[in-house]
Amino acid sequence: MLRIAIIPGDGIGPEVMAETTPLLEWVRTRGRQIEWEIFPHGADHFLTTGETLSNETFICIRDTFDAILFGAVGDPRVPDGRHAEEILLRLRKDLLLRVNQRPCAPILDRHVPLKGVAAAKIHIEVFRENTEGLYCLKGESTQHGATDFAIHTEAAVHCLLKAAFQRAETLGMPLTLAHKANVLKHGHGLWMRVFRGLQLEFPAVRSSAMHADALLCALVERPWDFGVIAADNFIGDLISDLLAAFQGGMGIAASANLAVKHDPAFAGHPFRCTGLFEPVHGSAPDITGKGVANPTGAMLCAVLMFRHLGWIKEAQDVETSIKKALQEGAATRDLGGVLTTTEMGRALRAGLH
Ligand code: NAD
Ligand code: IPM
Ligand code: MN
Repeated sequence: MLRIAIIPGDGIGPEVMAETTPLLEWVRTRGRQIEWEIFPHGADHFLTTGETLSNETFICIRDTFDAILFGAVGDPRVPDGRHAEEILLRLRKDLLLRVNQRPCAPILDRHVPLKGVAAAKIHIEVFRENTEGLYCLKGESTQHGATDFAIHTEAAVHCLLKAAFQRAETLGMPLTLAHKANVLKHGHGLWMRVFRGLQLEFPAVRSSAMHADALLCALVERPWDFGVIAADNFIGDLISDLLAAFQGGMGIAASANLAVKHDPAFAGHPFRCTGLFEPVHGSAPDITGKGVANPTGAMLCAVLMFRHLGWIKEAQDVETSIKKALQEGAATRDLGGVLTTTEMGRALRAGLH
């Protein structure tokens, strides 16, 4: 029996999750042994109970669930984002979900905002280090100024880059490291050193390093030249939203936060929970409650999760159903259509039997 922890979270999180959980019901009708539990954690829960994510809940998820399906966190009533930090960032960090894989394979030509570029010309995957860098959340504000530190450990960098090399090798795609070693001599100097070492281990992978700023320009001008892009936590976050735009916007992009077997830290702590699947978008307070959120990204997270769990045929079937509906014109407002979130979810699932 596989067990899924569902955390719908804040804003449009519960709205898009309501269209995703029927996929779990569907997979069960196909004979898969799956059960799930919905967790209330998010801004409402925090504001009423004072609890973000208790240790007890964290351990329960870590040791008794196989994966997490996540909506979004972020709420204007919690302006310092404390609960987002203590729920989402903590889960990524303490579950050792070092690799944040964010694929970008646009489905329709008309979703691609780049002039004259066909969807089939673009297949990129961001491999974002997910547990440190500027997200170490160490720093302070004083009356004279403020500091934010970035931490880069050889273990985490090696873990992420090895996963990126492996993926590039599997897909036969080039690998590009996005860095700013020209300025961040220590942190990104370490990234360069580890990258060069792995280049020797993966001679079959066409790999190169680029300054992240120049890379962004090249990405827009010639996206077909890129395959896997490896980056630290902050740069990877920025690139992933640009790539969301390539796919048709924030409503479509999906992501997987994964633990990897070659992580030395993971070897000593064989947690049951090895993946957290979340759309790239946030809680979108500007459209919350309006029934217009696009559930495609959230539903594509279920595809990534099924694949991670080894349910390849089911993942393919859901993906095919989603693609077919989009090809036939199913669209929420962000995609230029008129469907509500519920109608869109139904359309995207219509090909499942
Ligand atoms: P956002 O992704 O929530 O929204 C950016 C824009 O994209 C908004 O105009 C929004 O309406 C639109 N959008 C997002 N998802 C959409 C969808 N499914 N369908 C249609 N339109 C969609 O980013 P933001 O506004 O910068 O952040 C809002 C909150 O979400 C913040 O608190 C932020 O910290 C949080 N956030 C959380 C996550 C996460 O939980 N993984 C990710 C990003 C941002
Ligand atoms: C994302 C989000 C998060 C991040 C926020 C909500 C902490 O933007 O998942 O991309 O910066 O990682
Ligand atoms: Mn982001």
